[in-house]
Amino acid sequence: MSGHGTPIPMSSHKSTGLSGVADVPGDKSISHRSLILGAMSVGETRITGLLEGEDVLDTAKAMQAFGAEVTRNDDGTWHVHGVGVGGFAEPDHVIDCGNSGTGVRLIMGAMATSPITVTFTGDASLNKRPMARVTDPLALFGAQTVGRSSGRLPMTIVGARDPLPVRYDVPVPSAQVKSAVLLAGLNAPGETVVIEQEATRDHTERMLAGFGAQIATEVTNEARVITLKGQPELNPQTITVPRDPSSAAFPVCAALITEGSDVLVPNIGLNPTRAGLFTTLREMGADLTYENAREEGGEPVANLRARFSHDLKGIEVPPDRAASMIDEYPVLSVVAAFATGKTVMRGVKELRVKESDRIDAMATGLRAAGVSVEEGEDWWTIDGRGFGNVPGGATCASHLDHRIAMAFMVMGLATEQPITVDDGGPIATSFPIFETLMGGLGADIRRG
Ligand code: S3P
Repeated sequence: MSGHGTPIPMSSHKSTGLSGVADVPGDKSISHRSLILGAMSVGETRITGLLEGEDVLDTAKAMQAFGAEVTRNDDGTWHVHGVGVGGFAEPDHVIDCGNSGTGVRLIMGAMATSPITVTFTGDASLNKRPMARVTDPLALFGAQTVGRSSGRLPMTIVGARDPLPVRYDVPVPSAQVKSAVLLAGLNAPGETVVIEQEATRDHTERMLAGFGAQIATEVTNEARVITLKGQPELNPQTITVPRDPSSAAFPVCAALITEGSDVLVPNIGLNPTRAGLFTTLREMGADLTYENAREEGGEPVANLRARFSHDLKGIEVPPDRAASMIDEYPVLSVVAAFATGKTVMRGVKELRVKESDRIDAMATGLRAAGVSVEEGEDWWTIDGRGFGNVPGGATCASHLDHRIAMAFMVMGLATEQPITVDDGGPIATSFPIFETLMGGLGADIRRG
């Protein structure tokens, strides 16, 4: 769990010549799914490259509470002895998902069609986030929910004893909602159908197919229609988790805005439903190249090379790209501050219900650092000041949000005066080696 300890103030100071190889940790989305699907198959799933961040460790603990055996070898391989679809035991304690919206929403889906009762909670950030987007479709399967007002955690879900399959049109672009419905559909008889208007990350679909479920996606002009046949026997897998593009974003963007930098980030997952940031950066004029593009474990991967890019230009980010870079807008807004011209980001309402209201959190810090930002409910713009012209000298609040803390630490590497965040503790939820990795590249990031 994060956000329960003593705050860890951190500061970031002007740096030049970041260089070297940035081995970022495993993909958070894929790590959660590996543990959950491992727990829902019969036999032993082996996982290498699992992200050992707090969010994922909370999901590992939850899977143990549901009866799966989850262990880690000294060489870093994780073993999950699953209990099979429909085999979850009722946990004898509250499931605490810490800071993780992905963890809690996916686990709610996975348990909602089993006849067990489970109480979920999280940290101060997670307990503010909307859960009705998941519990509404789970009710269609027959699950019942009692939570706080406005569908907030802590919350108890009574899983359906005789679940019905569901056809569900996801009303918000959310891979978590889509995945919760698919995981619930695993233990319902017949076909569960999920329809999404905008393509969101498809790791659940890819991994379900890998575990042997019958799942098909039909792509029409209007939507993606995903059909899953319920009550399969899932076969355990050997999974290699690719490195997380959302974590890679931080050393990549740091290299682009610090003079003389040349950083290689190897083996990055480049699933098209995740790679929107890198397309956007190249459109801004970033010196960013893909090397050795290949496929590993059903996911496209490549090495990314990022070099200092003096002449970045502000652009209009296409709204239909939002889902493929939803977690990267905070750090993109930092890069935009060092570009010339305006960067316009539209269709990003979802940013307001992440670990924090990310538009508000970034806008406040950017303004304090001397950058003009305009915002509306589902859009914001950054007036780029150009390289060497961002004053900095601000103390920014991280709002229990790992990506806000890391985005500001990247920013301080190129501002004239240092940037401080009030609490870098949440970084451990997704990128526990952030400080050492960035320090190893030559970034001057300090505690205090
Ligand atoms: C995730 C989906 C996204 C993303 C989150 C991880 C996932 O959330 O922001 O960090 O693993 O499914 P939404 O589904 O709420 O967009």
